[in-house]
Amino acid sequence: MNKLLKMENLERHYETPAGVVKALDGVSIEIYEGERVILLGPSGSGKTTLLNCLSALDSPTGGTYKFLDNDVPRDNSEMMTSFRRDNIGYVFQFFNLLQDLTVLENILLIQELAGNKDPSRAKELLRLVGLEDEINRFPGEISGGQQQRVAIARSIAKRPTLLLGDELTGNLDTETSNKVMLALVEACKKEKITSVFVTHDEGLVKYATRVIRIDSGKIISDENIVEDL
Ligand SMILES: Nc1ncnc2c1ncn2[C@@H]1O[C@H](COP(=O)(O)OP(=O)(O)OP(=O)(O)O)[C@@H](O)[C@H]1O
Ligand SMILES: [Mg+2]
Repeated sequence: MNKLLKMENLERHYETPAGVVKALDGVSIEIYEGERVILLGPSGSGKTTLLNCLSALDSPTGGTYKFLDNDVPRDNSEMMTSFRRDNIGYVFQFFNLLQDLTVLENILLIQELAGNKDPSRAKELLRLVGLEDEINRFPGEISGGQQQRVAIARSIAKRPTLLLGDELTGNLDTETSNKVMLALVEACKKEKITSVFVTHDEGLVKYATRVIRIDSGKIISDENIVEDL
């Protein structure tokens, strides 16, 4: 397997009136192509901060971060934006769907930005997340869990190199969450997408090839798991 990215001694410190908050406190991590990582940790442990640094939404305050052997841009919003556009899919906790576009159009827009105008692929992605009957509805006309599934389909539509998700099944019931995770695993394998998903749900560990636990801004355990899917 090829190495996709490497963080060394990464720090993200915040200066606050009460003192320095070490949201990331010396994180070193290597991720290889095709890995499916689940990131677990208590509230406030640094999970979102780590995803934001991985995606170059945020700039670390120390350490190094290389992606495919190149330094990831920091402190330069244009370069950070183009890094994200070229490499990253990110499912946010609040899914930011465009309200004036239908479910299908939300997917088509992202796909077209990535150079693919084929509507059958967008429909296939929506089928994968179980929304084939809702494609012509608007986000305001579907439930929160359904909107989340649109956001998940949209994140795969651009075929990112690295797919990141923050509590991406947080609004779904167990059955739907399992269906969506299976669809995601299938899509990631087929399209050779590497993924890092943050969750509180230990039940999702079975979909991962690797589980990393973080606490107080530090990695406290990192284990590979045998694939049984
Ligand atoms: N802008 C900020 N200024 C100061 N401290 C911050 C800021 N953003 C985050 N933090 C602190 O950094 C730490 C890590 O926050 P982070 O959002 O990464 O946690 P998390 O693991 O995602 O938690 P949760 O599970 O609750 O989403 C927390 O202690 C938080 O209070
Ligand atoms: Mg968080």
